[in-house]
Amino acid sequence: MIEFNKVSKKYDGAQFYALKDIDIKIEKGEFVFVVGASGAGKSTFLKLMMREEVASSGNIVVEGVDLNTIKNKDIPQFRRSLGIVFQDFRLIPNMTVYDNVAFAMRVIGTPEKKIRRRVPYVLSLVGLNEKSKSYPRELSGGEQQRVALARALVNNAEIIIADEPTGNVDPQMSYEIVEMLMRLNEAGTTVIMVTHQHSLVRCFDKRVITIKKGEVISDTPAKVGESATAHINAASEITNEYVVPPDEDYSAYVSRSDAPADDADDSQDEGGEN
Ligand SMILES: Nc1ncnc2c1ncn2[C@@H]1O[C@H](COP(=O)(O)OP(=O)(O)OP(=O)(O)O)[C@@H](O)[C@H]1O
Ligand SMILES: [Mg+2]
Repeated sequence: MIEFNKVSKKYDGAQFYALKDIDIKIEKGEFVFVVGASGAGKSTFLKLMMREEVASSGNIVVEGVDLNTIKNKDIPQFRRSLGIVFQDFRLIPNMTVYDNVAFAMRVIGTPEKKIRRRVPYVLSLVGLNEKSKSYPRELSGGEQQRVALARALVNNAEIIIADEPTGNVDPQMSYEIVEMLMRLNEAGTTVIMVTHQHSLVRCFDKRVITIKKGEVISDTPAKVGESATAHINAASEITNEYVVPPDEDYSAYVSRSDAPADDADDSQDEGGEN
């Protein structure tokens, strides 16, 4: 669970509060959209929950970790328990696409053998297997964004925090990305996603938190009604493959389990161009 208790944030030197008196609970397994105008405080909300920023007052607890009292030395490990997509991507410029994603696994000590199987699979989920040897500067904005998404998914984090993960891709790709996040959510992952795209939000019928000038002005639950179910059924036809397999066995999902890259020719259909 993620819990904000009367949380306010004022950046050093700022005149106004970026966030004011936020009281929010997000249960394990929820899917939450966060919407609001530019400058409303959406990224600040996410940065507080990943302890990239510290609250000026109030208290935040994420999966039992109190972010007010967490020790500095424990922060990196806490962050690694999250799958984070930053609004500005934060890819490592001198690493290839493959290594940017692999790096997230290496820092938590994953064996290379497992990395070689997992990274191509996750890149195929975001339609980027063919770019695995490219560097970030050689990619379009949308492609960079999808690398950032792959990196956030690769460790099967229990919480995915995504700041505008569809901000740079076309509507079809946006839809597919949210579909993918929804599948992960159905498998138990908590997803918190900031977006400006109201059409997307309407399409998916999930909880929506609206922030305006630092305050939560509405928080509407998903309507788990018939329309939502109908939608899931319709969508599953095109995106069934976007389900992350159990942690132990990806081998069935990748074409050549030992090939780290360049295996798009005989890989399974991963969408993106249909
Ligand atoms: N590091 C910072 N120092 C000072 N002020 C900041 C800082 N980061 C954000 N702010 C201010 O806090 C407010 C909220 O910013 P935030 O980045 O959370 O907005 P946002 O809703 O994510 O906007 P956008 O949709 O443009 O990404 C803004 O007024 C912004 O100028
Ligand atoms: Mg932002």
